[in-house]
Amino acid sequence: MINGERLISRPLRWAMVGGGRTGQVGYKHRTGALRDGGYQLVAGAFDLDAEMGRDFGVNIGVAAERCYQDYKALIAGETAREDGVDVVSIATPNFTHYEITKACLQAGLHVICEKPLFFTVAECDEVARLAEQKGLIVGVTYGYTGHPLVHQMAAMVKKGMLGDIRIVDLQYTHGFNAGDDVGAGEAVKWRTNPRTAGPTFVLGDIGTHLYYLSQIVLPHMKVERLLCDRKAFIPTRAPLEDHATVLMHYDNGARGRLWVSSVNAGNMGSQRYRFVGSKASLEWSDSHPDQLIYEVQGEPGRILHHGMPYLEQESLAIDRMGALHTEGLGDSWSNIYLWIAQAIDAANRGDRAFLKTHHYPGIAAGTEGVRWLENCVRSADAGAAWIDFA
Ligand code: NAI
Repeated sequence: MINGERLISRPLRWAMVGGGRTGQVGYKHRTGALRDGGYQLVAGAFDLDAEMGRDFGVNIGVAAERCYQDYKALIAGETAREDGVDVVSIATPNFTHYEITKACLQAGLHVICEKPLFFTVAECDEVARLAEQKGLIVGVTYGYTGHPLVHQMAAMVKKGMLGDIRIVDLQYTHGFNAGDDVGAGEAVKWRTNPRTAGPTFVLGDIGTHLYYLSQIVLPHMKVERLLCDRKAFIPTRAPLEDHATVLMHYDNGARGRLWVSSVNAGNMGSQRYRFVGSKASLEWSDSHPDQLIYEVQGEPGRILHHGMPYLEQESLAIDRMGALHTEGLGDSWSNIYLWIAQAIDAANRGDRAFLKTHHYPGIAAGTEGVRWLENCVRSADAGAAWIDFA
């Protein structure tokens, strides 16, 4: 169980780019990072509007002189200080991730970047090489993948409790973009423009969460072929999609079905995962994140609760609240930030042995998401054709 005791040598001095008053995801980062004392938020370029960014930074306790006008000034200012930051989180629109990540790494700073990591696998590979050369960590924040019941599912699959995996059924949908974009805010505008969002809208925005979480549960299974059908129900969003279906063939013969949509009017179900094996199935949804449905063929269904002693050690070790007390998204973010802090701490100590076995969502996790997106777009652009996964 995680109880907040420090698990790294010293707290990391931390900065954020984006994620300020007008950003949707910034507070999730702070919820994750500031929980266990592993990070101290000492600097930031929190907003495109530098004045608002400074005002916001001061309001959350950052010294005014360390609230910078942009990321370039942040890197220059912080690398000139003896007590400059160790790590920078990037919580800005997709098109800025590559340039800011590269600049931070070149300046010797670790990075925690939002998904989808970059636009292309080639960019991911280039940045992975740069991080490797510099001995720096790049973490990626896939929100729910630190949840104890996600790791319970992985442990049960690994133990063979489901038998051979046959069906993977993934859904992340909502209806927030069911109407048109007239008068839409900035967060919708940049998400629906290929120049700022990249080659996808909902596939990258929410589909990458499904794909990465399923990889945590099924690390032994690789997608061999896929078919992606995407559509913009609101025509001004084309060529990007507000709805997509992806069929996947895995290398063990399993079949996958993934549905992402932001036009599922009225739906608040968000994420749902079902893994079906030859003996039993698991189903988990963020509507009830502290419950895992375990159904063995021929037996009454069971609901497993987080934090209970009947769970696997892999799940109990990362539980924070204990049974009976709901554990959710904020707790999951705390685990993700903790794992990345441990990776940074090990990198700073040159402890390569630790890094070899330590689980955290790193650049490979970000790259796999981008690779999956590239394949989805290739299939969709070929008229929803089956393609070999490249
Ligand atoms: P948003 O549009 O709500 O906020 C973006 C913020 O970044 C704004 O405050 C803007 O002023 C600031 N900004 C833009 N460019 C900047 C720059 N060059 N320097 C400093 N600040 C800058 O966007 P949102 O929803 O917060 O998304 C940001 C990123 O987080 C995206 O990549 C998105 O895909 C990802 N995201 C991830 C989630 C997760 O669960 N991991 C959830 C929501 C978003």
